[in-house]
Amino acid sequence: MSVLTVLLIEDSPAQQRLVKSYLQELEGAEVHAISHGDGGPEAAKEIQPDLIISDINLPGLNGLEICRRIKDEMDPPPPIILISTLNEDEDVQRGFEAGAAAYLGKPFTQRDLLRTVNDVLQKNMLRRQQHILVVDDSAGIRKAVTAELRDAGFRVSEATDGTEALTEASRSHPDLVLSDLNMPGADGFELCRSMKADPELSSIPLVVMSASSDRGTMRRLVHMGAAAFLVKPFSQDQAVLLIEKLLDDHVLLMLKDREQAETERRMMLDTITSLAKALDARDTYTSSHSENVARVAAAIAEEMGFEEDDLEAISLAGKLHDIGKIGIPDAVLLKPGRLTDEEFELIRRHPRIGHEILSHVPSLQDAIPAVLHHHEKYAGGGYPDGIAGTEIPLPARILAVADVWHAVYSDRPYRPAMPREKALGIIREEREQGLCPQCVEIFFTLVDSGRLPTNI
Ligand SMILES: [Fe+2]
Repeated sequence: MSVLTVLLIEDSPAQQRLVKSYLQELEGAEVHAISHGDGGPEAAKEIQPDLIISDINLPGLNGLEICRRIKDEMDPPPPIILISTLNEDEDVQRGFEAGAAAYLGKPFTQRDLLRTVNDVLQKNMLRRQQHILVVDDSAGIRKAVTAELRDAGFRVSEATDGTEALTEASRSHPDLVLSDLNMPGADGFELCRSMKADPELSSIPLVVMSASSDRGTMRRLVHMGAAAFLVKPFSQDQAVLLIEKLLDDHVLLMLKDREQAETERRMMLDTITSLAKALDARDTYTSSHSENVARVAAAIAEEMGFEEDDLEAISLAGKLHDIGKIGIPDAVLLKPGRLTDEEFELIRRHPRIGHEILSHVPSLQDAIPAVLHHHEKYAGGGYPDGIAGTEIPLPARILAVADVWHAVYSDRPYRPAMPREKALGIIREEREQGLCPQCVEIFFTLVDSGRLPTNI
């Protein structure tokens, strides 16, 4: 287990005790306390803490000087929280200028301290995961910008022009690209155009830096899709602040997108599931045929060791396997007597219709093979493709066992459910013929151990 190591630099014994007791809440935090400013940088290098909390007024080096030294001398420097009774705006400003990650005015409560510590640590962790690609033909500028971003905690890679940047971006997918505008070879415009044209790279924010503050150029870049513009010379803090802001916005946007996609998926799923239920009610005596097939198929798949995502896909396929019957007229689907050849042909279309319906829903793609092939026969001769054996996708073979089982072991309009033993006998007979032997075997493992889901 990784332990959080904190270096506390505070000359007042009472304050030291207080901060230490506040930090006890953080499980496993190990606090090293020193009371003289001069020992700060050395202690930090020796202990390599995850976090430094330092008073500003100290004997020897003060907190601001400690901040600057640590930023200069450690790579990467740990985040520093400055604490002080000085609470004027200028004091806070000076603290941030010296490189502090946060500033906490005394007196503060335990809640204030823990919230600040958590914020700082989370931000720092996020930074370390974030990767920035710096593109500039000038080695000097590249080095300066890279050093500053590394100090801020980012991972950084470099490229010398647009072409190299594009190769590097395709390889490593940075979280943000910071590029010079005028470069020999592919310049900033070209890089922007190429990134926006590549679906894999188009969502990566691109910040362009240039000596020109020409409005026309800036407008053109923003129009082309650049996220922001930095006019040289810019202060390092300006660059870091802008990048932090863009990345925070970008992360928020991605989280929002993901949330929205998940909501849409659920809504779509609910709609399709109710459709499947309505269809069950039209087609079968029990309105829970699809639900039962899904449960039995998922139980077989789980026994076979399917991973969670695959289990979800097979359960969905179970719920939706007969969705294609929506395209079959009542007169055929509900006909009590024998079907003519033409009518049977119509019935045989339902897996393909199901496939067609589901192919329009991106999140249901994994369920499609099972839906499409649930009427194939293990020995061949099923439909729609007449494939056999292991040519039939495994989820479809599993679904076929569950489908046949529920069909023979549930009440039908024209006959009551078969006795259980007789129904089990049919599954046994179909082994090797209609049904996959491996799936049948697992099915009987569940039956014998009493774990086969019962009908609902
Ligand atoms: Fe079917």
